[in-house]
Amino acid sequence: MTDNPIPAVAHTDPSRPLFHFATPTGWLNDPNGLLYHQGEYHLFYQHHPASLVWGPMHWGHTISSNLITWQNLPVALAPDPLGAIFSGSAVIDSKNTAGFGEQAMVAVFTHDRNNHQAQSLAYSTDMGRSWTKYANNPVLEPPENTPDFRDPRVFWHGDHWVMLLAVDRSIWFYRSPDLKQWQKCGQFGGYGASTGVWECPDLLQLPVDDGPHKHWVLVVSVQQGAPAGGSGVQYFVGDFDGEQFSSAEPAERVRWADYGADFYAVQSWNAAPNNRQIWLAWMNNWDYARQTPASTWRGAMSLPREVALVTDTTGPQLIQQPIAELAALRKLLGSWSELAVTPGENLLANLTADALELVARFAVDQATMADQFGLRVRVGPSEQTTVGYRVDTQMLYVDRSNAGQKIDDTTSPQAITLAPRAGIVDLRLIVDRSSLELFADGGRIVFTNQIFPNLTSQGIELFAEGGNVRLIALEIYRLIP
Ligand code: FRU
Repeated sequence: MTDNPIPAVAHTDPSRPLFHFATPTGWLNDPNGLLYHQGEYHLFYQHHPASLVWGPMHWGHTISSNLITWQNLPVALAPDPLGAIFSGSAVIDSKNTAGFGEQAMVAVFTHDRNNHQAQSLAYSTDMGRSWTKYANNPVLEPPENTPDFRDPRVFWHGDHWVMLLAVDRSIWFYRSPDLKQWQKCGQFGGYGASTGVWECPDLLQLPVDDGPHKHWVLVVSVQQGAPAGGSGVQYFVGDFDGEQFSSAEPAERVRWADYGADFYAVQSWNAAPNNRQIWLAWMNNWDYARQTPASTWRGAMSLPREVALVTDTTGPQLIQQPIAELAALRKLLGSWSELAVTPGENLLANLTADALELVARFAVDQATMADQFGLRVRVGPSEQTTVGYRVDTQMLYVDRSNAGQKIDDTTSPQAITLAPRAGIVDLRLIVDRSSLELFADGGRIVFTNQIFPNLTSQGIELFAEGGNVRLIALEIYRLIP
């Protein structure tokens, strides 16, 4: 039995996103099996179709040609006697190493039964439309006394398959000729944040500064201890030799992919065209995921984002941008340039939207008299979500403490230091009804958050406090799929 079944009658839902993927019904968590194949981006996901809370996990399935509009397919994998279907990845076995057929799509996932976690296979020879579980599952059993042994991330490297597994607070590396026999070849741990258990590893090779040079980036989701509280995503820049990852960073350094509260279990698409490196995450947090406002569905993904590395003073760091496809949704609401934002005035008082994009550049230099400035979205008589910048402390912050229905009891804003780059602070906000994604400093800093305002709270504000700030440019678009 589920303790939170789906009500029989759906009602108008002011939270349902317009251009983010959300589960058609029931519960959703991690993205799984992200794979591009013959014109289709596949997105599988942790799914409990008949309930609004986590339970016996299935793999839901949806496909897209543009990463914006999704066509839902039937559930791909359902629990069986070996257990529930936990997170994992998918590949095209183009050399037919496993013998499942030419161009077979192979899903590698964790079977979970009573805290026994083992890795298993399923395959499809019809572009992911129908699935067969491998008869000799599981293919990789846990060592004794190892309850946390999950989330296989598989890819082809040179002449063999590689699998990353999350094992307690470490990542184990395996290799295989055929996806069926796996041999351990490496282990990584003792670095970064490990307050919470490690989950959902990923490994990407990303270009640095748009050049020919690349670094390997190991990405690890951590259940507890992220900057905004609860779960979050950390990453390590280093090297991978086909068997083992080594970090180029000091062990105590922690790099977070996102400073908001709702970005977890990120995964990148295998085999995306034109060497694109695109990832997306579950837009939620284990701290309160089971309690967010919900009617007939609960759970959405972040925007798909293009990722790369840029060099900063501490070495290469991640940079994220919303996929370029999003621009097709833009309907210009207004653009402004070279004006002073003055306390007490709201230039945007006539605009309303619940799905929008704001692109702003502010001059922050000796002439800036404001103590703080920024933008507010989903503004109503008694609620708003604020993205602001404090000039004296050089702090960028996101304040959702009065955004609408409460999902956590945090009252202090999420904040990070951001020094103006060449005298400019740039902010790009993407709002899709129940989410706000902020890309600042060219995508070096990202905050992803859920918000649950009233349907009617659709105001937008541009503000300065304590004095003027110079707005270099601002564009606002409604986003309509
Ligand atoms: C991450 C996670 C995974 C696991 C899945 C179960 O959110 O805990 O480690 O495979 O969710 O749904």
